[in-house]
Amino acid sequence: MEIEFVAAQAALADKTALAVIVFEGDVLAGAAGELDAQAGGALGRAVAGGRFTGAKGQVLDVHGAPGASPRIVLVGAGKADAFDDLAVENAAASAYGAVKASGLAILRLRLPKDGAHTAAQAALGVRLAAYRFDRYRTKEPAEKKPTVIKTQIVTDEADAALAAFPPYAALADAVAFSRDLVSEPPNVLYPEEFARRVKALESLGLEVEILGEAEMAKLGMGSLLGVGQGSTRESQLAVIKWYGAKDKKAQPIAFVGKGVCFDTGGISLKPADGMEDMKWDMGGAGAVAGLMHVLAGRKAKVNAIGILGLVENMPDGNAQRPGDVVTSMSGQTIEIINTDAEGRLVLADAVWYCQDRFKPKFMVDLATLTGAIIISLGNDYAGLFSNNDELSANLLAASTAEGEPLWRMPLPPQYDKNIDSVIADMKNTGGRPGGSITAALFIQRFANGLPWAHLDIASTAWKKPSSVPTIPEGATGYGVRLLNRMVADKYES
Ligand code: BES
Ligand code: MN
Ligand code: ZN
Repeated sequence: MEIEFVAAQAALADKTALAVIVFEGDVLAGAAGELDAQAGGALGRAVAGGRFTGAKGQVLDVHGAPGASPRIVLVGAGKADAFDDLAVENAAASAYGAVKASGLAILRLRLPKDGAHTAAQAALGVRLAAYRFDRYRTKEPAEKKPTVIKTQIVTDEADAALAAFPPYAALADAVAFSRDLVSEPPNVLYPEEFARRVKALESLGLEVEILGEAEMAKLGMGSLLGVGQGSTRESQLAVIKWYGAKDKKAQPIAFVGKGVCFDTGGISLKPADGMEDMKWDMGGAGAVAGLMHVLAGRKAKVNAIGILGLVENMPDGNAQRPGDVVTSMSGQTIEIINTDAEGRLVLADAVWYCQDRFKPKFMVDLATLTGAIIISLGNDYAGLFSNNDELSANLLAASTAEGEPLWRMPLPPQYDKNIDSVIADMKNTGGRPGGSITAALFIQRFANGLPWAHLDIASTAWKKPSSVPTIPEGATGYGVRLLNRMVADKYES
């Protein structure tokens, strides 16, 4: 999607759809009123004859208005006093959604409030909404294909908007990168291929190290390696570094992602129904990779580390068994009760390695960790678990600002004994009650007391279908925006 910022008077090309975002209760004010006059009152008649009030998400579509454009849409933005950044981007995304497959090539969008920042935010909304993963479609009917390839945002501050846009564009690029990773089928995106795509981010200025199984074995990562041992694909650990702070030696912040490229459950095999969803069991690693992408893309003034534990969990003659005991890099031993509780085993070594090598200010891990978080919070909220109130507050504030809902869950010390084992230091499941909590308590045992937060994104990594106009059905990229915002607001110097 090409983005332009143009003045209201700029010449209108053929094949341009006009969209006007309007406030509830005042739908023919401003630009909509001007257009209505040009169109001989066509908009006014459409409003009078229908139920369009300008409420959030409403769209009124007027075809063939004389003297104006082949297609005009009014998009409701809700009440004027609630027109915040998220309302701007959602309205812009809805406008795009209304005309994307109209046959027209250009969308010209008018906003009810001007300013460079508002214009850039609207452009972000369109970029996010226009995301599509169509690498594997070979015969989509032409009439189903999106036709809008350019969006012109109308603003009196076109130069300032263009100058303000690069960090938003970097974010849209990073979210698309993350969504691509999560959308890829598991025969294509296995651990080494994931690692290759991350290595390619060095072109953005990131440093990327890839560790293979031999190197991880030397480090003693028996917990992570046990998960991948039933797979013919080699497990990988990707270490992504961004040194953007003035002081390149300043203590970094760190992010760790669960990258299970496919989760069959292993010997504790999952049922067939819905197993294909487990291609997106690398959504945590996808989010961390996306975060590193945007930090480099907008040259964030921060030192940040991203660590991805990349494995495939398969049943095989070589696979680990329920009952096995593995030794993690931390030295702590783990009795495997259920090979399907593999994400925490991957994170155990990745999180330990992270704190051991980088001594970060804090660690945030992201993982599609438990089905139980979907039962707890439904399909919009991710779960936040943390040993640190300040970090939690920063994550929650960023979550609200970016519209990626997050809800803090407890880490009750009295539940910790549920993962004690009879023969080893711990076991990898704590039973069904509070399943997301005992999973988080397990990871906490590998944070070594550092400020740490865990985001269980099993509920939010994939949307089917989506109710948010900036998130098409499929991979959401959840976490990229939230973490990027937290870094920008709290940790850049
Ligand atoms: N990858 C799954 C969790 C998951 C479920 C992610 C649904 C996305 C959608 C995870 O590895 C898993 O299998 N968890 C088990 C843990 C149980 C065996 C203790 C679960 O949630 O059932
Ligand atoms: Mn599993
Ligand atoms: Zn899993």
